[in-house]
Amino acid sequence: MTLPHSPGRLGDLLGIDHPIIQGPFGGGLSSVALAAAVSEGGGLGSYGAHILTPDAITGLVTELKAATSRPFAVNLWVPLEGERSALPDRTALTAHTERLRPYYEQLGATAPAYKDLEALPAFDDQVDALLAAAPPVISFVMGIPPRRVIDEARRRGIVLIGTATTVDEAVALDDAGLDAIVASGSDAGGHRGAFLAPLRESLVGTFSLVPQIADAVSAPVIAAGGIADGRGIRAALALGADAVQIGTAFLTTRESGASDVHKRRLGTPAARTTVLTRLFSGRTARGIPNRFVRDMAAYEDAVPPYPVQNALMQPIRRAAAAQGRPEYVNLWAGQAAALAGDGLSAREYLAQLVKELPGRGDPSGSPRAR
Ligand SMILES: Cc1cc2nc3c(=O)[nH]c(=O)nc-3n(C[C@H](O)[C@H](O)[C@H](O)COP(=O)(O)O)c2cc1C
Repeated sequence: MTLPHSPGRLGDLLGIDHPIIQGPFGGGLSSVALAAAVSEGGGLGSYGAHILTPDAITGLVTELKAATSRPFAVNLWVPLEGERSALPDRTALTAHTERLRPYYEQLGATAPAYKDLEALPAFDDQVDALLAAAPPVISFVMGIPPRRVIDEARRRGIVLIGTATTVDEAVALDDAGLDAIVASGSDAGGHRGAFLAPLRESLVGTFSLVPQIADAVSAPVIAAGGIADGRGIRAALALGADAVQIGTAFLTTRESGASDVHKRRLGTPAARTTVLTRLFSGRTARGIPNRFVRDMAAYEDAVPPYPVQNALMQPIRRAAAAQGRPEYVNLWAGQAAALAGDGLSAREYLAQLVKELPGRGDPSGSPRAR
């Protein structure tokens, strides 16, 4: 179904002034300060909560409500079928942990105990805590939230955003009644969220994905992936998006929870190259290749699935970030990462984007003199 996109419908739905969403970051890279700064600036700040316990989620929403009176989003991952249930058998795991041993030893990190390898909070408990805490907006990735969640959110007046990587996923989210849909192109940084077709059939670039989703759904569309400045925003809006979701470029801002080694790589020529890899978490994600990705390339398909590989790698990732060693850190980045990264505050970066919106100020839409 094709519907005209009136410019303000998403702004009205979300209660924001500018069509700019700061994408959520899972894995500890979000911060309350970042989300609040973006919301206070008239965009929509987001916080990625997928590793948080239900209690932590309750506390998070209280903190966010105290930090901003404007709307904000909290994000959860919908689990893929069977994802959080089965631990691989110990023998199958041994060969793999042996491969990682040199990295643990080099960094002085400790491998997690077998029983801790699937230690993720249950989605149902997370989502119940989140609904009860009632943030203004909840966004989901990796799937369609259950019917009861959609109904309960509606009862509580919470706006729901879903994330699609293909047109089919967008239609499924639209049919399920999500209020707005992120069109997440394969350009985007971080984990891919494909949930209907195999990942390799779900890698559509933002420029191709956005207009097709805009034609196919009635809900407002949010373009994500490879957008870092006014030129990207203008292109996305011209393609039929109602707003944009920017991730990587917000990672470089002072308030983001990204490590210094990570921030320092973004916005440099090294960030012009990104790859999709399962090596850091067991789920495919886009980041800047480093020594770990190159050394372990032969095991891309062999590493255990998420969340087991994620738990095995966590001590390595954390120790490497703390020791300032980017060669072992998951340097998540989208394909426009090299455009980002002037070390601005989130408020300054958002103000720069707002100045570059269509009809406002600098017609080149470029943040830097080129
Ligand atoms: C480090 C990192 C973590 C992310 N974590 C999540 C997440 O937990 N949930 C989610 O919906 N999107 C997540 N994303 C996607 C972003 O919210 C956003 O859609 C994406 O980064 C946009 O593409 P860009 O990186 O090219 O700007 C993450 C992205 C990055 C870079």
